[in-house]
Amino acid sequence: MLTTTDVVGGYGSVQILNGVSLKVVRGQIVALLGGNGTGKSTMLKVLSGLIKPWRGSIVFDGERIDGMRPDRIVRRGLVQVTQGKEAYPAMTVEENLLLGAHVCTDRAARARGLARAYEYFPILKERRRQLSGTLSGGQLQMLCIGRGLMSEPKMMLLDEPSAALAPQLVLDIFRTIGRICRDGMTLLMVEQNVRMALLLAEYGYVIKDGVIHLEGPAEKMINDDAVRLSYLGGTVAGRDEKMAL
Ligand SMILES: Nc1ncnc2c1ncn2[C@@H]1O[C@H](COP(=O)(O)OP(=O)(O)O)[C@@H](O)[C@H]1O
Ligand SMILES: [Mg+2]
Repeated sequence: MLTTTDVVGGYGSVQILNGVSLKVVRGQIVALLGGNGTGKSTMLKVLSGLIKPWRGSIVFDGERIDGMRPDRIVRRGLVQVTQGKEAYPAMTVEENLLLGAHVCTDRAARARGLARAYEYFPILKERRRQLSGTLSGGQLQMLCIGRGLMSEPKMMLLDEPSAALAPQLVLDIFRTIGRICRDGMTLLMVEQNVRMALLLAEYGYVIKDGVIHLEGPAEKMINDDAVRLSYLGGTVAGRDEKMAL
C-alpha cells in the first residue's frame, strides 16, 4: 500500500532523514519506533506532504505522492492524525470532526464519517455539542483519530496516539486502533510505548541516525535483544497485555 525508497529530507539545510526505506502492507499495522528526535514525526510529515522530501520516492496505492500537496495526498486516501493538542478548543467536538471532512464535498460522506467516528468513540457522540477545550487528554486523542477517519481514508498515519495517557486509556486507544485496522484500515503508527505497539502491529521498524536501523515481524522484534535492551528496559511483553488487546 505504501513504499518509501531512500527518502531524504529535513528542515532548512538540516538533514534529518538520511534515506528511509520502508513498506506498509495493506490491512496491516506497522510500528515506526526509535528514540526521541530520531526523525519519526519528520518521516510522517514527509509522507503526508507537510514537508517535501529532498530525494527518494514515496509510492502510495500505486502512485507517486512525493512532492504532492498535502490536500491531494488526503484526497488519495492517506491521512495523518495530528496529536490531541492540535484540536481547536473553541469549536465543538462535532465541528472539529467535520474539519477532517473538508475534502469531502458531499453530505452523505460527512454523515458516514461522523457515524463512524461516533461508533468507535461513543463518548465523542455524547459530547458532540461541547467545546473540545473541555475534553480530557484521552478524549482529545480520540477526537483527532475520529477527525482522521472523516475523509474515509485508506491509510492513516498515527503519531504517538498513546502519548500522555493514563494506562487504562492507553489500552482503550490501542484496542480501538486494532478494531479500526480489522475493519479494513492500514496504519503506520509512531509510538513511544514500544511494547504495546509491537503487540498490536504486524511489523516494526526502528529508525536511528535518520535511517532504518532494525526491522522485522513485530512478534520477532519484541523478543529481539537489541530492541528489548534499547527500548523495552529489558522486559518482555506480558501475556496478559497481549490477551487484553
Ligand atoms: N520544525 C522543525 N524545524 C527544525 N528542526 C526540527 C523541526 N521539527 C523537528 N526538528 C528536528 O528534527 C529532528 C527530528 O525530530 P522529530 O522528527 O520530531 O523526532 P521524533 O518524532 O523521532 O522524536 C530533531 O532533532 C528536531 O529537533
Ligand atoms: Mg515525534
